[in-house]
Amino acid sequence: MNILVTGGAGFIGSHTLVELYKAGHTAVVVDNLSNSNPTALRRVAEIIGVAEIPFYKTDIRDREGLERVFAEHKLDACIHFAGLKAVGESVEKPWEYYENNIGGTLTLVDVMRRHGCKNIIFSSSATVYGDPVEIPITEMCPKGQCTNPYGWTKSMLEQVLMDIQKADREWNVVLLRYFNPVGAHPSGRIGENPNGIPNNLMPYITQVAVGKRKELGVFGNDYPTPDGTGVRDYIHVVDLAAAHVAALKRFLKPENGEYGTATEPSAANIHSTSNPHLSIYNIGTGHGYSVLDMVKAFVRVNAVDVPYSIKPRRAGDIATCYCNPAKAKAELGWEARYDIDDMVRDSWNWQKNNPEGYPEV
Ligand code: NAD
Ligand code: UD1
Repeated sequence: MNILVTGGAGFIGSHTLVELYKAGHTAVVVDNLSNSNPTALRRVAEIIGVAEIPFYKTDIRDREGLERVFAEHKLDACIHFAGLKAVGESVEKPWEYYENNIGGTLTLVDVMRRHGCKNIIFSSSATVYGDPVEIPITEMCPKGQCTNPYGWTKSMLEQVLMDIQKADREWNVVLLRYFNPVGAHPSGRIGENPNGIPNNLMPYITQVAVGKRKELGVFGNDYPTPDGTGVRDYIHVVDLAAAHVAALKRFLKPENGEYGTATEPSAANIHSTSNPHLSIYNIGTGHGYSVLDMVKAFVRVNAVDVPYSIKPRRAGDIATCYCNPAKAKAELGWEARYDIDDMVRDSWNWQKNNPEGYPEV
């Protein structure tokens, strides 16, 4: 398939491009580069051995820009990563988050349908479960109260896409709820390149290890978890990328293997939706690791020091969050292959080879 990848220059998008090409697909990237660097796309091209990947420096809120992309390419589906994702910033700038993430997606989806491209995979998040009512979390677990505007944009966009699919059955919508992506491509050429002080655990650990920050603050050691620190379902970004390739199956016509509108319900439809045109998957490993588990694995595997001290809990954090990924395995044939040692090794490999991230352009 020829896939429109919005946000393709970003962390998850760049890794997904590699997996798409490896699986024989091609892509067209739209990104406004607000949180990314075009070097990532050059390095993706280098990894997959193509001269370049078609790229438009375009904002998904720019209708005319998107029209041009669709006029110049025949696109079968969209993997929609573009969005702002900093939780703290979203609390400070809610309007900007709603306008960018929701406004952008509404424009994107409208241009897609005008061009008859009605297959979309949307980057959602475990954050939509709020404080989950069950652990491990299945897709049947009800959505909860988000603690910040970023989370609400994900929750609301899920609803928007579900309503659009309900009204027009030609749409095929896949909502992927990512757990905690970490790691980097094993080549060390592409990885996570956060702006400023990292919000998330793994980039903070790698920046301490490389000497950019003095110590890691561990946010709370009095949670009801085995060692008192927060437990999460960390997933290697290459596994996450592969889940998107697997999810493209939802756009295949079962009878002849051509893409288009699926017509048959899936055979093994566990934990949820009976609508074959709308599917929701948890994308995690199903294992929960604590903050200290991650620090210890990082130190053990990479033989580097990561000084840390215990700090107060961070507002909005929950104790434990990990999923049951059985539905993705049953319906997409996808499961995570990389373990915690691979995650910490590849995160470090990226950071030590690129201490300042991508070069300024
Ligand atoms: P990222 O910031 O690295 O990538 C997002 C990309 O979208 C960036 O390249 C940015 O420049 C681009 N972008 C933002 N707004 C845009 C706009 N209006 N028009 C065009 N491009 C725009 O983030 P990521 O970690 O790769 O995340 C990708 C997606 O997955 C996001 O939607 C994010 O919310 C979601 N997600 C991420 C995580 C995570 O921990 N990384 C977890 C759950 C969900
Ligand atoms: C965070 C976001 C969530 C988003 C997800 C994407 C919050 C409240 N939630 O989830 O909306 O979808 O990222 O990956 O920000 N930790 C430390 N020290 C640090 C950083 C983190 O101890 O410097 C701890 C946290 O308390 C948590 C764990 O590490 O227990 C993971 O934190 P993080 O990487 O920020 O992810 P989440 O909080 O799970």
